[in-house]
Amino acid sequence: TGYFTYDSGFAATGACKSDITFIDGGKGVLLYRGYPIEQLAESSNFMEVTYLLMNGELPDAQQYNDFNHLISRHTMVHEKIRSFMKGFQYDAHPMAMMMSVIGSFSAFYHDGMNVNNAEDRKMAAIRLIAKMPTVAAAVYKNYVGQPFMYPQNKLGFTDRLLHMMYGVPAEDYVISPVASKALDLLFILHADHEQNASTSTVRLVGSTGANPFACISAGIASLWGPAHGGANEAVLNMLDEIGDVSQIDKYVAKAKDKNDPFRLMGFGHRVYKNFDPRATIIRKACHEVLEDLGIVDPQLELAMRLEEIALKDEYFVSRKLYPNVDFYSGIIYKALGIPVQMFTVMFAIARTVGWTSQWLEQYETPDTRIGRPRQVYGGAKTRDYVPLKNR
Ligand code: CMC
Repeated sequence: TGYFTYDSGFAATGACKSDITFIDGGKGVLLYRGYPIEQLAESSNFMEVTYLLMNGELPDAQQYNDFNHLISRHTMVHEKIRSFMKGFQYDAHPMAMMMSVIGSFSAFYHDGMNVNNAEDRKMAAIRLIAKMPTVAAAVYKNYVGQPFMYPQNKLGFTDRLLHMMYGVPAEDYVISPVASKALDLLFILHADHEQNASTSTVRLVGSTGANPFACISAGIASLWGPAHGGANEAVLNMLDEIGDVSQIDKYVAKAKDKNDPFRLMGFGHRVYKNFDPRATIIRKACHEVLEDLGIVDPQLELAMRLEEIALKDEYFVSRKLYPNVDFYSGIIYKALGIPVQMFTVMFAIARTVGWTSQWLEQYETPDTRIGRPRQVYGGAKTRDYVPLKNR
């Protein structure tokens, strides 16, 4: 009943009001709470950006310290969560583990279930942001077969993650400032991106009144797909498959062939019909990180050549298909020693800030209603049931 428009993939539907992130896809502009992404990437850090996205303003010195302290007080996970994690096979995909472990928080942190209490909602968001790296590092340790490392709260957010991932009980781990800065930058760039598939998923689940851990677990599931956050993993797999500059033309032809499901991963975006501003920042960082770490990666050469060829090709030019945030991020993750299967987990750590900020905002927006899209029905008309013996 009632009038509605068919909008496949919600390309033209504004499903919520939000004051958090602004994108002008035609001009390639991205603002967090009004601040250009380029300025935040240059001068801010991930914890400051987290505060900004959650609270609407940049923190003063006292607020910044208090916020870091608050996050660091919630980094540990319940010991039973660790026992739960031991049930996974050593070769479980890290995103499969993330999805289930974060979902399992619903069974541990009961005050997060009080979605109608603003204080409890805020605490659930803080818990999620603080514990996400601890779970991610534990997932990584499961993957490589090393012992779990407890969070070191004297370290900052990104250093703490690096320590939990690469530290071992047998010796001191020296954190590389290059790695720490690069990871922090990637986290800033991935923190929020308005109503992308995973954030819309979080909001849709959130609109039912479901608890925040269930909502974020659903967001992780949505992020995993190769058309979304899984693209960073898919890009490196694609570069592996292409293998050599001499093969690029063949793969570009495949990407253009409508009978071939192959697409250039890390290319194209629903909203950006110009350069993804995050890709521009990441490409520059990619060169700097590899140079600082003294790494020569043939995959970077391959990616640059692929970008060059695609950007001159009529197919990509006419469809305004440019490299997106995921095209170069994987090359940085790889340079930092992060395995391909962990790439989307790193994305999820950062995006948890956007997901939780938007989930909190949803409760503050007066006209929030349960999300309930309609459909265009194309199935059978009314017909009479035929008993089994007559079929
Ligand atoms: N390679 C080849 N052709 C493409 C590509 C690509 N990567 N992306 C879009 N096209 C073509 C598509 O076939 C279509 O052509 P035509 O008009 O002739 O039918 C046209 O460009 C428009 O594409 P679309 O599929 O209608 O666009 P969409 O807005 O529905 O999809 C997208 C956007 C990002 C899913 C898509 O561009 C894609 O699959 N890209 C590769 C995966 C990827 O890199 N995803 C990461 C996105 S950014 C980070 C994130 O969201 O997490």
